[in-house]
Amino acid sequence: MPTDSIAAEVSRRRTFAIISHPDAGKTTLTEKLLLYGGAIDMAGSVRARRNQRHATSDWMAMEQQRGISITSTVLQFGYHDHQINLLDTPGHQDFSEDTYRTLAAADNAVMLIDAAKGIEAQTRKLFDVCRMRGIPIFTFINKLDRPGREPLELLDEIEKVLGIDVFAVNWPIGMGETFRGVYDRLLHAVHLFDRTQGGRRIAPVTVGSIDDERMRALMDEQTYLQVAEEIELLDAVAAEFDQRRVEQGLLTPVFFGSAANNFGVQLFLDAFIDFASKPGIHRADTGIISPEDTDFTGFVFKIQANMDPQHRDRVAFIRVCSGRFEKDMTVHHTRLGKKVRLSRSLKLFGQERETVEEAYAGDIVGVINPGTFAIGDTICLGKPVAFEGIPLFAPEHFATLRNPNPSRYKQFLKGVTQLREEGAVQVLFHQDEAKRDPILAAVGQLQFDVVRFRLESEYNVETLLEPLPWTMARWVSAKHPDDLETIDWYFDSLGLKDVEGRLVILFKTPWGLQQMSERNPHLQFHEIAPSS
Ligand code: G4P
Repeated sequence: MPTDSIAAEVSRRRTFAIISHPDAGKTTLTEKLLLYGGAIDMAGSVRARRNQRHATSDWMAMEQQRGISITSTVLQFGYHDHQINLLDTPGHQDFSEDTYRTLAAADNAVMLIDAAKGIEAQTRKLFDVCRMRGIPIFTFINKLDRPGREPLELLDEIEKVLGIDVFAVNWPIGMGETFRGVYDRLLHAVHLFDRTQGGRRIAPVTVGSIDDERMRALMDEQTYLQVAEEIELLDAVAAEFDQRRVEQGLLTPVFFGSAANNFGVQLFLDAFIDFASKPGIHRADTGIISPEDTDFTGFVFKIQANMDPQHRDRVAFIRVCSGRFEKDMTVHHTRLGKKVRLSRSLKLFGQERETVEEAYAGDIVGVINPGTFAIGDTICLGKPVAFEGIPLFAPEHFATLRNPNPSRYKQFLKGVTQLREEGAVQVLFHQDEAKRDPILAAVGQLQFDVVRFRLESEYNVETLLEPLPWTMARWVSAKHPDDLETIDWYFDSLGLKDVEGRLVILFKTPWGLQQMSERNPHLQFHEIAPSS
């Protein structure tokens, strides 16, 4: 395929993930983006699924009943001649390393904030990962239809707490009961919305200049005066909108709205199409891979196992980085050094699976994976390349995994090793070889459930899980290897090693970490595994 047609496909694509704290409105916003993108006619279907998801606390029963656990890994829809890929980052119960890894496959992030709550813990963690990758971050401040914090105060918090500059692209007109719409600061236009029943349909909108008397008449006089004053103030003090700084992840464009009522959703989507980065370059061992390169390349960022014994398959999710993906293509699997035919390639929309005929950089393709793929694997055509791996993030949950049945020890070890290789969980080991039980380490508690369930159903090994009190882990390195032998230990910490033999120290509190680092100034403590 000629390079310029690949380039045209690439420039149409926008790939992003939403980062937020549970309950900020991610499901609602996702659904409204689909509504405005024309992918669904009426809002309601995604929410119904969410309620279903929350209705049962028994996760395993839910997985079995649902059949396939890839409800919405990627939602793909067209909008104004663009192809949008929205990558799902699972919510609270589902929080896991997958959440972080998904961000490795996104070119942009949308940070969703509840106007009454401001920056919350999970948003912050996910923000840090986006920051590390230097991707553009767009902010949508939601729930303006409810009494919330002052918009200026929220902007200030984003700047101070997250250390990113802000540019308010639009500004709310009223708040709570009086919330009527937004003023678009780039287009200098007022957008006043009408509510629709349950926010199920596109909200009717009246657009005009803020100086237009007819628009003024549509607003509550006090609200009008306040907005006019705030906008003047903002224009006087705020920095210019700088697209380059947005692309570098140094400036976040901020939008206000109400996802539930569809206020501000379309404006957001329009601006997002304009300002979000198209698929970019990726670093590989051979140098930079450009999305317009004709040779196909991609990497695996997530593996999802189906819990249903009737359809026990695993799907490896591949982020296309360059060239053109075609159904049934045979690619080079760099880690295994062999050819692999991608015979069953899937596009996933909600629970529906559809065969993918072709895909370009920025797209996500699911392939049925009979154990061939692990997280971070590269597949390619042409000259073999290997992308830089997906970083390993510091776990926050720890538990000893025991196998009470000695006759199943071999299967137990095999299962734990395979699930670790697949990326389902991290495994740490005692430095004292006599203590053989592995310690499972995870970013989210759910990962333990998955591992135990899969050990039982796929390896026929029942296990016991003993939770451990540690809450933080850091990989530790030193310039001089001798320094690792003479550590001044803080009593409430535990030294373990990871599968590559790197030292990992566990702590119960940030205080413990602080103590250790003060006592050992020659050591470096890493939240992300350093390359060994
Ligand atoms: P999440 O995926 O981020 O966890 O959030 P979700 O969309 O499920 O929204 C969490 C709650 O916030 C829901 O209320 C939802 O209706 C509400 N919400 C989302 N956007 C807005 C908004 O713009 N304004 C207001 N006022 N509320 C909003 P719920 O009571 O948990 O569920 P439901 O009874 O509405 O289904």
